[in-house]
Amino acid sequence: MTLPSTVQLVEVGPRDGLQNQKQTIALAAKVQLIDDLADAGHTVIEAGSFVNPKWVPQMADSEQVFTGITRRAGVRYCALTPNLQGFERALAVGAEEVAIFAAASETFSHKNINCSVADSLQRYEKLMDAARQHNIAVRGYVSCVLGCPYEGDVAPMAVAEVTGKLLEMGCYEVSLGDTIGVGSAGGMQRLLSELLARFKPADLAVHCHDTYGQALSNILVALQHGIATVDTSVAGLGGCPYAPGASGNVATEDVVYMLHGMGIETGLDLDKLIAAGSRISATLGRENASAVARARLAYA
Ligand code: HMG
Ligand code: MG
Repeated sequence: MTLPSTVQLVEVGPRDGLQNQKQTIALAAKVQLIDDLADAGHTVIEAGSFVNPKWVPQMADSEQVFTGITRRAGVRYCALTPNLQGFERALAVGAEEVAIFAAASETFSHKNINCSVADSLQRYEKLMDAARQHNIAVRGYVSCVLGCPYEGDVAPMAVAEVTGKLLEMGCYEVSLGDTIGVGSAGGMQRLLSELLARFKPADLAVHCHDTYGQALSNILVALQHGIATVDTSVAGLGGCPYAPGASGNVATEDVVYMLHGMGIETGLDLDKLIAAGSRISATLGRENASAVARARLAYA
């Protein structure tokens, strides 16, 4: 078992975390959150999405978010984009990187992006061409890798198929989404055995929602398989509008605490992260979902 010595965290709170919030969130609060996260040491931040605003109203102001933030050298500000139209919107406001998203489950694909998995991959071809022209890196997501809210169990082979296609299309990395957080260590182990027979650990990242409280152990399994990129969401913000019952991504603070405890570097300042997470939790009037933040704040 060789653990990575450094882990790259991808902060998805401003997108995956905020997209599902029902109340109006002031633009200034979104901008503040992203600036706080960069200040805490994040180098990759998914700052918003350029999807159809009728589908996800909370992300309708992503243009203003991208133009409102204070860009820091060394930080990549990324955007989730479902098609060429989304890519063009992201490009216009200077997103450094975009992410496309496909699913390992047909029903989830229809609910989330209104088309089949095959059609979504075909639709992404135009976006990939445009990204190549503009020299923009593209990340891929596969949703429902450990279970689907509509279809239940998902076969590792189905995940491998979509992952392979995204990598062949030119994604530099594929993030494996346990969209509804139902996976456990055994499922993650079986999934990665299948995937790592075909792909390198450096091709993969994990994106674990924490609905069943299994995210940290699932991430540990991924680290044990050499995966060194982990998506997290400050204060455990989040959920997916098309995945009923899904809670937020694993809290950044909890993952950082675990990694630092294992002697793995992240470049992040835990105290600053806790401050960022408590500020946005207070703004949203929501309990902080990071166990580490709650514990630290209780003794502050
Ligand atoms: P559609 O309705 O099939 O699209 O939606 P369409 O191409 O037929 O266009 C319909 C209308 O949408 C048109 O406007 C387009 O202009 C507009 P109209 O003529 O009716 O006025 N439109 C857009 N507007 C702005 N920006 C765009 C855009 N595209 C079309 N980019 C579509 C298809 C994919 C667009 C829609 O289903 C959609 O936006 N879905 C996004 C859903 C979403 O954001 N889900 C959450 C993110 S995924 C997630 O959370 C999982 C992840 O975290 C990983 C994990 O946890 O597993 C990534
Ligand atoms: Mg997600």
